[in-house]
Amino acid sequence: MIVFNTAEQLKNHLNDLRAQKKTIGFAPTMGALHQGHISLIRIAHQHCDVVVCSVFVNPTQFNDIKDLDKYPRTILADTSLLRTSNCDILFAPEVSEIYTEEELEMKRNNQEDRTWMEGKSVDFGLLDKVMEGAHRPGHFNGVAQVVSKLFRLVNPDKAFFGQKDFQQLSIIKSMVTQMEMPIEIVACPIVREEDGLAMSSRNRRLTPEERKEVPSISKLLFFIKDIYKTHPIKRLKEVVENYYALEKLIKLEYFEIVDSETLQPITNFNNSKSAVACIAVKLESVRLIDNVILY
Ligand code: PAF
Repeated sequence: MIVFNTAEQLKNHLNDLRAQKKTIGFAPTMGALHQGHISLIRIAHQHCDVVVCSVFVNPTQFNDIKDLDKYPRTILADTSLLRTSNCDILFAPEVSEIYTEEELEMKRNNQEDRTWMEGKSVDFGLLDKVMEGAHRPGHFNGVAQVVSKLFRLVNPDKAFFGQKDFQQLSIIKSMVTQMEMPIEIVACPIVREEDGLAMSSRNRRLTPEERKEVPSISKLLFFIKDIYKTHPIKRLKEVVENYYALEKLIKLEYFEIVDSETLQPITNFNNSKSAVACIAVKLESVRLIDNVILY
């Protein structure tokens, strides 16, 4: 595996590979890698000749500075895990390699930077107004900003994202379409711990007591998947809300059943071709999300 810290070196190397007609797969990450990320590398290898992984904790997608500070940074462990996971190229840039001082200043002043759209009027419509978008103002603009920058540097044929961040996937697909980027976005299944907890870099911040309680998140989602055909949506929401009303360590932020295309909450399954149940919970140390595709 080759490690690049500068965009210039990365671009030169990738240009050489492209001249050799190699196809390029890309898995962007924020590091603190786990088997969920490694599954992206594995799937990328099934699609492409060369796999690039980036590790970059993106400051512009954090709406809470404390969350950015606390985000785990484990580049040495990440590098060795990638080396043993068949990754070809690791791109691990400094912040100054990705952002100009003006862009960082805008973030510090809480101004939404739309320069990444490069003159196009990218509009996510209602996609970024619900769930994560409603609870984390500016988050998806920061995600789209960094992903568009990384896409321009790597210029991959295909890019691989985990379905755990279901809404992020929709935003990125929409961005690629609106920016007319010739990149195929591949959605990869959620990887779970044995007890069902969706793998996440944030899980390592859970206290032992919290860790014992969090499998309830996926257990409830699977339960909802088992019973959704025979219960009205209102009742399904009550099941989850009532469970967390009695939970001491976990606070429910939202539980929504949404149309998989529009991400808008639905009240009747007959009106949607496909639906997904999405949840976000807050604990003292961390905030977690998960989802399950109902049909
Ligand atoms: O999903 C993530 O880890 C991040 O949001 C991403 C896509 C790497 C952008 O920083």
